Amino acid sequence: MKVGLIFGTRPEAIKMAPIYHTLKENGIDTKIIATAQHREMLDQVLELFEIIPDYDLNVMTHRQTLPELTKNLIGKLDPILKGENFDYILVQGDTTSTFVGALISFYYKIPVGHIEAGLRTDNIYNPFPEEMNRRLTTVISSLHFPPTKKSKENLLKEGISEENIYITGNTVIDALLWVIEKNKDKIEKIQEKYGLKNKKYILMTMHRRENWGTPMKNVMQAIKEFLIKNPDIFLVFPVHLNPAVREIVFPALEELKNAILIDPLEYLEFTALMTGSYFIMTDSGGIQEEAPALGKPTLVLRETTERPEAIEAGTAKLIGTKKENVLEYMNKLTFDLEFYSKMAKAKNPFGDGKASLRITKVLLKEKIEEFII
Ligand code: UD1
Ligand code: UDP
Repeated sequence: MKVGLIFGTRPEAIKMAPIYHTLKENGIDTKIIATAQHREMLDQVLELFEIIPDYDLNVMTHRQTLPELTKNLIGKLDPILKGENFDYILVQGDTTSTFVGALISFYYKIPVGHIEAGLRTDNIYNPFPEEMNRRLTTVISSLHFPPTKKSKENLLKEGISEENIYITGNTVIDALLWVIEKNKDKIEKIQEKYGLKNKKYILMTMHRRENWGTPMKNVMQAIKEFLIKNPDIFLVFPVHLNPAVREIVFPALEELKNAILIDPLEYLEFTALMTGSYFIMTDSGGIQEEAPALGKPTLVLRETTERPEAIEAGTAKLIGTKKENVLEYMNKLTFDLEFYSKMAKAKNPFGDGKASLRITKVLLKEKIEEFII
């Protein structure tokens, strides 16, 4: 059996890495087609997980627009999928690489397996363009690997046949557990390297398109006020390389002594800083899944989330981007210990570290026990 993995951004690479290794360990001929929709942020992950792509399409351009990116992906994926006789293509999540990878596979009648299928907000503009990317990918795919029972239910509602759906848990938990297990001795050293050992700090990321402009500016104002009032609390913010993000974040926070603004961290370092943080603020998808596994309360800086499991479990709060709301919840987590510990103790609903094995077994037509909690 020959399987192709198409991915191109940092989060897809993190979530595909454990699948790549598990497929190989099970004797499956596996080829990586890295679109490189991201460049530096992708390379960091490939190196950590010891992955050398069979194809690197190098599509990233500075400040790429969605139509340009889509056009480049189509042109560069076409000859590869035409030339290789894949039995399956696997795509992950909801990026433009995911959707276009599935589309070109369809044109060559290669069955597509969609990892992290069935996440929905039911608002096609939020997150944009991800909600549409994952819906379009669902329609094209033959095998669907939702991480949770809820995401399976979303697929059933859209008429996907149950026999093609397998609840696997999220492969991000496989990646996270793998990285921590392999590097236990390095975690504290990394916290020391950033001067954070024994410091109380909030870890933050923010990059989504629908937050560019006013929402992101509002959040920065809230953070600025909080940091000025609480000089002993630090904010560590690895800022996404997208210039649309950097040109808002740096002017707003760079003068504050307790704001540590840095470049995107390599995954092991980011994991180490998550582990040591007091709480996390983010609009990222993957971090909403990892934080509960590490017992870190998370404030989700978005109006909608396709990961309601974390909200229901109580590990995350969906707080939007209004300045007053953001300040209110930052203060609550800092000063209301009961509120904090309730969130920190809630259960991780996203996976048990065996998602990649389940996906591999499905491809091998072996029986699996689904991830149900
Ligand atoms: C993309 C995905 C988004 C995902 C995010 C993860 C789409 C449409 N968006 O958004 O779903 O949540 O990745 O981070 O698929 N850049 C660099 N170096 C890098 C990466 C990005 O310089 O390694 C800059 C470039 O100027 C690039 C810009 O960021 O043009 C935007 O990259 P792009 O992949 O289009 O969008 P993201 O906002 O990263
Ligand atoms: N991450 C990382 N370095 C960072 C910030 C995030 O390795 O500086 C990891 C994070 O742990 C998670 C993934 O990147 O696994 C999330 O990526 P991102 O927020 O870019 O995308 P999303 O999940 O929102 O699609």
